[in-house]
Amino acid sequence: MDHKILKLAVEDGIGIITISRPKALNALNSEFFTEMDSMIEKIETDKSVKGVVITGEGKAFVAGADISEMVSMDNKTAVEFSKTGQRIFRRLELLKKPVIAAVNGFALGGGCELAMSCDIRIAGVKAKFGQPEVGLGLIPGFAGTQRLPRIVGLGNALHLLMTADMIGAQEAKRIGLVQEVVEQEEVLNRALEIMEKILSKGPKAVSLLKSVVRRGIETDIDSGSNIEANEFGTLFGNEGTEGMKAFLEKRTPEWKGE
Ligand code: CAA
Repeated sequence: MDHKILKLAVEDGIGIITISRPKALNALNSEFFTEMDSMIEKIETDKSVKGVVITGEGKAFVAGADISEMVSMDNKTAVEFSKTGQRIFRRLELLKKPVIAAVNGFALGGGCELAMSCDIRIAGVKAKFGQPEVGLGLIPGFAGTQRLPRIVGLGNALHLLMTADMIGAQEAKRIGLVQEVVEQEEVLNRALEIMEKILSKGPKAVSLLKSVVRRGIETDIDSGSNIEANEFGTLFGNEGTEGMKAFLEKRTPEWKGE
């Protein structure tokens, strides 16, 4: 399909998705979700794309769900909109390839929820985070109520959610919402640099690692450890054996790819 809001550029195996609706601060409307769904579909099957970096055009990463579209929704349409956003962000979260959010500016409401569906968040110094929904008489609809406490803990999550405060990049780093804060013009480069490092590791191991961590955090420690042991085993006789042999033979491993 033709993408009007999402731009995809592939550089050295990294798919760079730019959300490009700067006049509305990249607010997420139904068209965005249709495009994102098809973009994820494409990336899932495209072997030339090994990892994904998501960023926004202009001064926002994403300033939230599109309020001008939501304002006329009835209860039923709102539930559907919420479920669509949740399904697509979950699909992104479960993508078998690493995903980094390069947060260049406002990441509010649905924008913060999108960033939280990525594996790692790198923020420019001017980035701002928040869940302003209660100020609109709403609550988050794209699983922000579920992911925020899992990422920053219950107290920090309820603090942000209940006050609707907007916080800067450094505060977001302090509470663990972002992993690194870099100079504004460096945010995309730094995200790409981190992705290059990840892609230099065993691709099957990285993909399994993501799945084990994500499945494990949603269960108890014994079930999670069981998942870990089984997946640990699947790396023997293939990629893991090559990585260990390469170490012992003092050479660079030759990854066969996912
Ligand atoms: N939806 C629709 N349009 C939006 C938008 C949004 N979430 N955020 C910004 N825009 C639009 C503005 O209406 C404005 O459009 P016009 O030029 O046509 O008037 C344009 O983008 C530029 O915005 P501002 O003039 O407001 O820019 P600013 O620099 O003065 O302020 C801001 C920036 C603080 C981010 C402010 O735009 C703002 O508060 N935006 C709304 C943030 C918000 O409440 N997000 C949560 C949405 S609800 C949600 O996301 C629920 C969910 O989980 C499903």
